[in-house]
Amino acid sequence: MTTTARPVAVIGAGTMGHALALVHALGGHPVRLYDNDPGALARAPGLMEAALATIREAGEAPPGWDEARLAEAVAIVPEIAQAADGAWLVVEAVAEDAEVKRQVFAALDAHAPADAIFASNTSMLDIFPLVPTRRAPRTLIAHWYTPPYLIDLVDVVAGPATDPAVVETVRALYAGFGKHPIVLRRFVPGFIANRIQAAIGLEVNALLDAGVAGPAEIDDSIRHGLALRMALMGHLMKADFTGLGLSRKILANRSYTPPVPTGRCAELERRVDAGHSGVATGAGWYDYGGRSAAELFRERDRQLFALKQAVRAVSPLPGTPTDGE
Ligand SMILES: NC(=O)c1ccc[n+]([C@@H]2O[C@H](COP(=O)([O-])OP(=O)(O)OC[C@H]3O[C@@H](n4cnc5c(N)ncnc54)[C@H](O)[C@@H]3O)[C@@H](O)[C@H]2O)c1
Repeated sequence: MTTTARPVAVIGAGTMGHALALVHALGGHPVRLYDNDPGALARAPGLMEAALATIREAGEAPPGWDEARLAEAVAIVPEIAQAADGAWLVVEAVAEDAEVKRQVFAALDAHAPADAIFASNTSMLDIFPLVPTRRAPRTLIAHWYTPPYLIDLVDVVAGPATDPAVVETVRALYAGFGKHPIVLRRFVPGFIANRIQAAIGLEVNALLDAGVAGPAEIDDSIRHGLALRMALMGHLMKADFTGLGLSRKILANRSYTPPVPTGRCAELERRVDAGHSGVATGAGWYDYGGRSAAELFRERDRQLFALKQAVRAVSPLPGTPTDGE
């Protein structure tokens, strides 16, 4: 099947949607971007242009990409029918609300070709019951991380009725973009990376509330301790270097008890109540000295590209997964 001539529809033009439109365009596909909020559609071209400028500055854009090429590649459309018409792939990135997604899938069912693949970017929802039954074989989750033009991980998850060939088409598509798709064996809310991140978050919040350390000590422990090894080896290969006998002893030693989730963190609530909600307000866990959110995001993206390029330059350690036998 030739996929490049038929467009990719991106539904939802918010934080993720505009960036996903850009990613698919840079991957060589004509894109139609739709949102039911005209304001979101009006903001999308400027956001995509700013992201493209950062990508180009990092030397990560394919040759020949500029604002004119972007405007040609991504059509902003005011109707869902226009977006879905003729699309071979529909990327759903609307609000994380089951009823909203159900309605969007119903509209897509009415307007998208019978052979279109529906790929949902949901963070947590089991979207499979929300999709009309006849679309089930060609529906999956392809979950990206923000910003998707920078973070390469994509979680690809089949539903109970998804055709394995569709999973492979989408996996191969994103691998072809230079991304790092992983295929989960089944749906779990939060997939893998966000579940691990949630466990880290639980511990961090408990350490803060117990007064063991402050934000700087906690982030330094991650940056200078955990993260460097994790970037090279993940968790399990790192354990191989420690020795699995020790992993077994640590697991058996019950002196560590994970925090009980309470759904609250007093230190977090103090910041939010004081109006410090992060870079958008100039301060959160840290004070950013009056620098604007746009400037901070640009700087973060520049630094992340530099880090990614450094990690890419390091050859991965050899090793193939064992099955325990
Ligand atoms: N923000 C993230 O870091 C992130 C990361 C991975 C996945 N996601 C998931 O991606 C999806 C989108 O998240 P986001 O952060 O971009 O949210 P967002 O609020 O920034 O954007 C959602 C967009 O959907 C639009 N929308 C709402 N109802 C609609 C409808 N009926 N038809 C068309 N458009 C509609 C809204 O106008 C809005 O522009 C969610 O499922 C979210 O869980 C978000």
